Amino acid sequence: PEGLHALMMSAGKEYFGTATETDNFGDESYQAILAYQGEFGMITPENSQKWEVTEPRRNHFVYTNADAVSEKAQDNGHLLRCHTLTWHSQLPSFVSSGSWNTTTLTSVLTTHITNVMTHFKGQCYAWDVVNEALNEDGSYRESVFYEVLGDEYIPLSFKTAAEADPDAKLYYNDFNLETSSKKADGAERIVKLVQESGARIDGVGFQAHLIVGQTPSRQTLAALLSRFARLGVEVAWTELDIAHDFSSSSSNGSSTANATQLEQQAQDYVSVVGACLDEPKCVGVTVWQFTDKYSWVPSTFPGRGEPCLWTADYKKKPAYDAVSRLLREA
Ligand code: G3I
Repeated sequence: PEGLHALMMSAGKEYFGTATETDNFGDESYQAILAYQGEFGMITPENSQKWEVTEPRRNHFVYTNADAVSEKAQDNGHLLRCHTLTWHSQLPSFVSSGSWNTTTLTSVLTTHITNVMTHFKGQCYAWDVVNEALNEDGSYRESVFYEVLGDEYIPLSFKTAAEADPDAKLYYNDFNLETSSKKADGAERIVKLVQESGARIDGVGFQAHLIVGQTPSRQTLAALLSRFARLGVEVAWTELDIAHDFSSSSSNGSSTANATQLEQQAQDYVSVVGACLDEPKCVGVTVWQFTDKYSWVPSTFPGRGEPCLWTADYKKKPAYDAVSRLLREA
């Protein structure tokens, strides 16, 4: 085998995947890599399954783009990781600025989850049921869901999801769990909250939006994954990218990575993917786009960028070669 997914399978894991979106479908060079046999085994829609897209107005459901991503997965023989149901961001205004009470918001939330999951029933290997419910200090993030329903909205989401699609794995997904121990404590509290409610939670997704040179070691990351595995859930890297911080002094004003920075990025990718290899309950790795051309990072964090495995003009970066070597030797 040579592609990342094929190598990942040989290493005993389930998939190596990538986020993608319908905006990328007309780019032939991009599509050639996405479809290359053995490179990827899983795709995640980067935006098209989010609430503002799937239910922009109450009880008005739109699946055009999400269906197109699902068809792309089928065409390429890839699994689909579905993303995401209960999230404070990319909410339509009818949800975020409605005046709700417990009964009405419960109805809106369960209707959304049931409708979306029923539409994609049988197509999703896993769903990110609840996304980013935590602040950096591990407390619950203020959101319309938390304000009206308290932490009960979390088990409610999982219970509703389990009923809608009994075959999809159900995940809690968040970022900075890798770097904030208080936030990781919060995620552990969420897993236990759902388990103690009697609802099903199958996995914790660690987004892993990381920074070159500030990525924890393989050993630290593996310990984090195994801490969650011990709770009885599987784990995965769900949105991996490792951005250069071009505002740092080592960049000397440049906004293109030099050889040293590319080598550090490669080492950091090896730490993250290696930690998954080290934890038997880590099922796979998803990168959040595979080319710098379409990364979300530079527009959201000016001064940061080039976080992906391929350059913007589709050359494999040292990080690609390092991950490939790591998996070949696993
Ligand atoms: O669709 C509109 C388009 O009509 C409009 O013209 C354009 C103008 O700005 O905006 C388009 O929406 C953008 C959308 O992506 C689709 O391209 C939004 O502005 C933009 O904010 C949005 O960004 C996405 C972001 O989530 C939103 O929070 C990124 O692409 C996406 O990569 C990012 O993904 C998130 C995960 O879902 C959760 N974890 C963090 C991760 C990175 O932020």
